[in-house]
Amino acid sequence: MIISVTSLKGGVGKSTISQNLAVCFAHMGYKVAIVDTDTNASSVHWSGIREEDLPHITVMGIATSDALRKNIKQLEKDYDLVIIDGTPSLSKLVSTIIILGDVVLIPIRPSGLDIWATEKFIEKYDQAKALKEDVKAFFILNEYNPRVSLNQSIKEALAELEIDTLKSTLRHRIAYEEAVVMGMGVYEYKDAKAKKEVTALANEILKIISK
Ligand SMILES: Nc1ncnc2c1ncn2[C@@H]1O[C@H](COP(=O)(O)OP(=O)(O)OP(=O)(O)O)[C@@H](O)[C@H]1O
Ligand SMILES: [Mg+2]
Repeated sequence: MIISVTSLKGGVGKSTISQNLAVCFAHMGYKVAIVDTDTNASSVHWSGIREEDLPHITVMGIATSDALRKNIKQLEKDYDLVIIDGTPSLSKLVSTIIILGDVVLIPIRPSGLDIWATEKFIEKYDQAKALKEDVKAFFILNEYNPRVSLNQSIKEALAELEIDTLKSTLRHRIAYEEAVVMGMGVYEYKDAKAKKEVTALANEILKIISK
């Protein structure tokens, strides 16, 4: 099963979500790999500082569309779940990432700027859909605060679009920033609320996959 995490905008939480889902799934007993497609290689660096006594997550860097296509079949055989940590660009690589995903997650931060970026993303998504009809894509609200009215308006605006939004949302929490620099996910960290929301997200995705 392949979970693609992608967006056309940088810094929206692709790597954070990829790593935290991977950690959560690994604790649930799944054999997990992350494919880091970003030239910044943040997931590769993250795995480099991960303690060996934590559940193992394979992370490999693959930065071209051709290499991704070439390697993905074997990865799918070797792992229960392969998470593709995407790169923010309009490149062919993004189309490949969308097409390869059994589930495609598009993190959005609830700001006007992120919403505008979704228009371009939807164009890309429509092109991908022309090649593969049943793309299961979902927005995931990251750094979402239901008490801020702008955040709520953005959630409502997303609901008008052709891509569904996941029920689970992630708040802005220091735990995400602290866990990542220790090679961990919040599932392994001291913030119980962060652990709970990431677990809910992982379970929502598993439910979608099982359908
Ligand atoms: N829910 C959150 N709470 C707090 N900090 C967050 C959260 N999500 C992401 N961040 C922080 O925001 C920054 C950008 O996140 P991240 O690196 O995951 O984005 P990205 O989409 O992978 O970026 P890029 O496009 O550069 O690859 C990081 O410093 C990360 O720790
Ligand atoms: Mg990243």
